[in-house]
Amino acid sequence: MERKNKIEDEISFSDLLKNPIRLFGWVYPYILILIIVVGIFYVKNLTQVSFNAQPVGFIDSTLIKKDVLLKKGGIMPAVDLALIKSPTPAFLEKGKELYKANCSSCHGETGMGDGAASAGLNPKPRNFHSLDGWTNGTTFDMLYKTLQEGIIKNGMAAYEYLPPQDRIAIIEHFRSFTKYPEITEEQIASTDQTYNLSQGVVLPNQIPVKKAEELILSENSELFNKTNNAMKFVANDTTKTASMLREYSSNLKKVFSSYLANKSFSDMNYYVGEVTKSPIELGYKGRVVNLSNDEWQLMYGYIRNVLN
Ligand code: HEC
Repeated sequence: MERKNKIEDEISFSDLLKNPIRLFGWVYPYILILIIVVGIFYVKNLTQVSFNAQPVGFIDSTLIKKDVLLKKGGIMPAVDLALIKSPTPAFLEKGKELYKANCSSCHGETGMGDGAASAGLNPKPRNFHSLDGWTNGTTFDMLYKTLQEGIIKNGMAAYEYLPPQDRIAIIEHFRSFTKYPEITEEQIASTDQTYNLSQGVVLPNQIPVKKAEELILSENSELFNKTNNAMKFVANDTTKTASMLREYSSNLKKVFSSYLANKSFSDMNYYVGEVTKSPIELGYKGRVVNLSNDEWQLMYGYIRNVLN
């Protein structure tokens, strides 16, 4: 009897099972594709996937307003990092003066935390002779952070307006009161990295939002007044053109203020073209596009007149 030769599988599964690690080579691309597909789906639906229907104790941070102070910008000069590890006598002397001027009222002239202004404070200003239980810590990077940011909630002010090198001089001064942890290269490097000590920092001018709003308003007060006057005028005007404008506009304030704000609108053809493109944005109803050229001439002339 003739025996049919069994056609051999291209892959010998029995061999594969004996050495299952070889399976991995085949499975891997499919897993990769699966991961990519799931990943793309997840990213595309991120908003829905992460949507939380029940915000718990959510505070609307847009309601919290903390305005910045009016400050003149300037340049914070770069720090000579070498001074940190080996301060010169002149540097230390400067630190002492600055300490007296800025810190002794609270921390005391000799750094015992007993300055005149310390009376009402809780916690007390730090005693620089005792290194236990500090909030930020006593290493150089933490001391710098304290002077940069303050510990506002505890009554320790921020001294970010003092040039960085002066702050470091102060730190050197009170560090001399007792034995502080040694200043390491890492601490200097990380402070430098965080606060750009060796590069100097440009501080932008700062203007409080409230003040900025007033400025913008006053700069625009002419536009504002003209718009208001024109609106009042149109409301009481009984001419045909006035009623046409009232009929075809949806927001007269927008009609007038957008006209005033855009210099190229002094060209009628351009203006009509823009209104036809986006009537709603410019304060009109959609059907304004049906106006004839003659009607536009009347209305456009009228708008110009009432705004003068
Ligand atoms: C208005 C009072 C006041 C003045 C002025 C003041 N401090 Fe303080 N300072 C405090 C108080 C209060 C604390 C305690 C806050 C805390 O440790 O949480 C404190 C804490 C500190 C600490 C320790 C932070 C920590 O990690 O616990 C340092 C360092 C410090 N001040 C440095 C200075 C220097 C330097 C000056 C001057 C440039 C200065 N302070 C000026 C009130 C003051």
